[in-house]
Amino acid sequence: MQVKPPRPYYVPVANEEQVFKAAYKQGLSIALKGPTGCGKTRFVEAMAHDLDRPLVTVSCHDDLTTADLVGRFLLRGGDTEWVDGPLTRAVREGAICYLDEVVEARQDTTVVLHPLADHRRQLPIERLGVTLDAAPGFCLVVSYNPGYQSVLKDLKDSTRQRMVAIEFGFPTPDVEEKIVANEAAIDHDRAADLVRLGQAIRRLETGGLREVASTRVLIAAGRLIAEGLIPREAARAAIAGPLTDDSTVTRGLLEMIDVYLHDGSPDD
Ligand SMILES: Nc1ncnc2c1ncn2[C@@H]1O[C@H](COP(=O)(O)OP(=O)(O)OP(=O)(O)O)[C@@H](O)[C@H]1O
Ligand SMILES: [Mg+2]
Repeated sequence: MQVKPPRPYYVPVANEEQVFKAAYKQGLSIALKGPTGCGKTRFVEAMAHDLDRPLVTVSCHDDLTTADLVGRFLLRGGDTEWVDGPLTRAVREGAICYLDEVVEARQDTTVVLHPLADHRRQLPIERLGVTLDAAPGFCLVVSYNPGYQSVLKDLKDSTRQRMVAIEFGFPTPDVEEKIVANEAAIDHDRAADLVRLGQAIRRLETGGLREVASTRVLIAAGRLIAEGLIPREAARAAIAGPLTDDSTVTRGLLEMIDVYLHDGSPDD
């Protein structure tokens, strides 16, 4: 008998687990909206685990074609052989199919999702001349970051309205502290300092930053601390660096780091 792996570590932030499971049971498709590094991927992994479904993930990009999703004929030893794409595999297996950054895919690619995303739950495969009914358990989940959205890159309304939306934001400080401490394996006081710094950066109202500090960058700083770096150095490398290339903005971030993180190092 196969032993079920442990649940991916995910701490609920609001009612997202309830909404996801209710939508799943009703066979509805789901859109996860939120900034980078706020836990969307980890959340889907935890849901697939709880619902006991395989997870098929596709990272979308603007060269992604319908054939990349659905499948294509390939030459095999002089013969052509049909090879299922990840979407078709998920439809056959009754898996959760997670299309990450779905707005990156062109709209002519995402049209194939329509009959799957609504009550029909069907995938037409033109090249094979067949229409597959999704196996029980199949669920379509997409994610995107509304912050990056431009007029060119948006989901068609007809795609959006076929999905239940779950909004992700950053966790409350106490929850985020727990996540950072756990993921980076550092103590709670250190994690709390990083979270306070993250909160202060998020209050900056853009201030020249395209994206604010995510839970992911706070965890990365925590990991450097776990390796012995002093917190300020860790934050410079893992938080200030990734957030901006602009020298004025960088200076501002470094000042904040100095205010929020007390290293107790000799040059303090
Ligand atoms: N609620 C949470 N519970 C547990 N871990 C979390 C949570 N939120 C964020 N994380 C942690 O933050 C990190 C980033 O999360 P994740 O990769 O899921 O982000 P994402 O929203 O998918 O980002 P992107 O849009 O860039 O793909 C992960 O290492 C994860 O551990
Ligand atoms: Mg992700």
